[in-house]
Amino acid sequence: MAYLTISINDLVDGKPQKFTIGNTDVCVARVGSDVYAINDMCTHSEVSLSEGEMNGRNIECWLHGSEFDMATGEALTPPAIENAEVYSVTRDGDSVTITVEGKHVNANN
Ligand code: FES
Repeated sequence: MAYLTISINDLVDGKPQKFTIGNTDVCVARVGSDVYAINDMCTHSEVSLSEGEMNGRNIECWLHGSEFDMATGEALTPPAIENAEVYSVTRDGDSVTITVEGKHVNANN
């Protein structure tokens, strides 16, 4: 398991940002007081989702325009058909912790 703790003030509302947690690139977005974390790689053609734009809590891939629901990882519009992996986000005041579990993780973190 690997995790990252940041301040919510490090996140710009409506602007996705990429963080590397363990060895997983994670796209993190703040929408108002909510924070979402999704695998940064588009499931269609392996480009960085954090370079896309938010539409509410959905992120739109900059290359071909697929939208993913950042709360569920669901691929909402083609050409992407495979859902993206989402990660647990917990809040403690201003502190936000994103946890990545699974085979991609750096055991030292
Ligand atoms: S690479 Fe993301 S929709 Fe094609």
